[in-house]
Amino acid sequence: MTATTLGVVLTEAEKTLTDAGAWLPREDAEQLAAHVMGCTVAQLPLDAVPGAEDLARLRDLVAQRADRVPVEYLTGRAVLGGVEIAVGPGVFVPRKHTEPLLAWGLDVLHGVSRPLAVDLCTGSAAIALAVAHARPDSTVHAIELDPVALSWARRNVARQAELGDTPVALHAGDVTDPAMFAELDGTVDLLLPNPPFVVDGVVLPPEWQEHQPWSALFGGQDGLVVIRAVVAAAVRLLRRGGGVAIEHDDEQAEVIMSLLREQDAFTDISYGVDHWGTPRYTTARRK
Ligand SMILES: C[S@@+](CC[C@H](N)C(=O)[O-])C[C@H]1O[C@@H](n2cnc3c(N)ncnc32)[C@H](O)[C@@H]1O
Repeated sequence: MTATTLGVVLTEAEKTLTDAGAWLPREDAEQLAAHVMGCTVAQLPLDAVPGAEDLARLRDLVAQRADRVPVEYLTGRAVLGGVEIAVGPGVFVPRKHTEPLLAWGLDVLHGVSRPLAVDLCTGSAAIALAVAHARPDSTVHAIELDPVALSWARRNVARQAELGDTPVALHAGDVTDPAMFAELDGTVDLLLPNPPFVVDGVVLPPEWQEHQPWSALFGGQDGLVVIRAVVAAAVRLLRRGGGVAIEHDDEQAEVIMSLLREQDAFTDISYGVDHWGTPRYTTARRK
């Protein structure tokens, strides 16, 4: 009997994941294999025959991925702004779609010494940690309502501080509270919220619908409940010239730009696109 090489196992896994509806079946299979074998994807020994234990572990992970468990929950990690973030059940998985929002925010901070940034709806603390990593001279506050997400955020904040990044100040709280961060009113250089924005009742792909916390996803009957609070907070918290970028779905840029215009408090109201070229975040500067 010919022993099965990793290359063959990956081809089988790719087929399993394709049949299950995963949209990046090959990449997922490779990431899971690299996770099991403790190497990078580029280092995967495709011609080698995996040991029985590794093979069983990989097949188990592929089966879970075929159940549409997010690949990041299976590997335990996601990356934003070059910072590795621990993730797992109970916390939203940071997305590649957020990289352009982060880049816009870092651009706003260009030339600002010792900037003050706030991550509203921080989840795993990914955005806050990416800002602190890129700008060691910054002060970054992050706020989150959900206790499970907060526990992931605490873990990530502690790890990055241990690695030498500027510590992020993490707060338990509700961004719809009109007194949130009242002590920072008029002083914030940058707000980078990625709030829940999906319209209640929309059925998302299983990676979100079945596996990620709904409180991270759904934003009320029009999807804008938390976003309205974020806009109000931006009016209050930002200093003159300070910037806000709000992440949202493909079709919300116009309505969020209208919400910002209604405040008569912002200039340069615009939107940015993600790596697919899809409108993904709306931006403004405080007058
Ligand atoms: C879409 S996730 C974004 C998480 C993270 N910023 C990221 O980009 O990966 C939204 C987060 O907002 C949190 N959240 C929802 N409503 C909130 C509220 N009223 N106050 C604070 N956080 C809230 C959710 O628990 C979730 O962690």
